[in-house]
Amino acid sequence: MDPRRNPFAPGAGSRPPELAGRDAVLESVAIALDRIRNGRHAQSTILLGLRGVGKTVLLNAMRRAADAEGIQTVPIEAPEGQSLPAMIVPALRTALLRIDRGQAAMTLAKRGLGALARFVKAFKLSYGELEASLDLGEVGVADNGDLESDLGDLIDLAGAAAGERGTALVLFIDELQYVPERELAALITALHRARQNERPITMVAAGLPQLAGQMGKAKSYAERLFLFTTIGPLDTTAARAAIVHPIEAEGCAIEDAAVARILEVTKGYPYFLQEWGKQSWDAADASPITIADVELAHPTALAALDDSFFRVRFDRLSPAEKRYLRAMADLGDGPFPSSAIADHIGRKASAFGPVRASLIAKGMIYLPGYGETAFTVPLFGAFMRRAMPGEGRGG
Ligand SMILES: Nc1ncnc2c1ncn2[C@@H]1O[C@H](COP(=O)(O)OP(=O)(O)OP(=O)(O)O)[C@@H](O)[C@H]1O
Ligand SMILES: [Mg+2]
Repeated sequence: MDPRRNPFAPGAGSRPPELAGRDAVLESVAIALDRIRNGRHAQSTILLGLRGVGKTVLLNAMRRAADAEGIQTVPIEAPEGQSLPAMIVPALRTALLRIDRGQAAMTLAKRGLGALARFVKAFKLSYGELEASLDLGEVGVADNGDLESDLGDLIDLAGAAAGERGTALVLFIDELQYVPERELAALITALHRARQNERPITMVAAGLPQLAGQMGKAKSYAERLFLFTTIGPLDTTAARAAIVHPIEAEGCAIEDAAVARILEVTKGYPYFLQEWGKQSWDAADASPITIADVELAHPTALAALDDSFFRVRFDRLSPAEKRYLRAMADLGDGPFPSSAIADHIGRKASAFGPVRASLIAKGMIYLPGYGETAFTVPLFGAFMRRAMPGEGRGG
């Protein structure tokens, strides 16, 4: 069918034509943010999930909804290897400027900008246009060079600035698992302090499953401060809706058997649903899309995933990491007992400590339960078997 009208949107962070199955979590976050703006208590939400389940698009949807409610939102992505201070400064600056817009008086937002300038100086970050605000800052606020207390000052002041204007400030942080433990601890402490001071500021964050453990390790009270919500594959009803509704919205149809086949191969993973939806649409000559069209699309969909979703992750691996993952793939799709992987390669488990640590840091594997290891990327085992055929047992 006409590729120009193909509604599907596979791709990291690509807004899906239908955000299926996420109403409950959207609603619970909307309620929490509204409560915080109204000076009430609510936990910050942390979305945990594997690659491609839709964490980024969910964060974006939550942010758009909050924006529409007049809440000040700050999007932050935590890229691997960048420090938290470096990424939070520009984001807070934008938010404070927005909060201060049209105000001639000396507002808390202006004091916040001054504190930000002193923070930048204390942490030797790059100034940019903040230098002009330096004289608005107060000596001893956010400029002591101790991340935990300085970030606390900043977050507290930013929250107070939002409160002064009758709004709330929400940090939306994606890929939070990349923030190192010490910085994560500072962020948690800062949010905790702002909460105790009843400031209308909070965070909604997303990350890989290991983030829950990282946060608990950084600050043991993180479990009480945050609400951890697992974002998984879509259930049957939602997965059907994700495929059927966008097709119907284009005035076309898809046969039930074709939908069932797509659900079977994708296991309801949002990224894969988008890819199979897209390729099945393109493979079909006319509406309705049939199971034969889905079968025809299968190799193209797999190849598209191999070239994008899987390949970008594979290319970041060292030879030893690839060998370990390839050995895992021999065992199936996981989770596996960690000892079984070492047994399969025929070496002692202790030999793989460093490789496992770097695979966890890169977000390729995680430990779903005690003594267990799993891929963070769904269907990655099958990909490894395609990418490195005949190389089992870790070489
Ligand atoms: N609820 C949903 N319904 C249908 N499609 C969805 C849904 N959520 C996400 N998608 C689609 O899934 C794909 C992946 O989404 P997204 O990039 O948000 O995942 P992610 O969890 O952030 O992945 P990563 O961990 O790799 O960053 C996108 O193509 C998006 O359009
Ligand atoms: Mg993402």
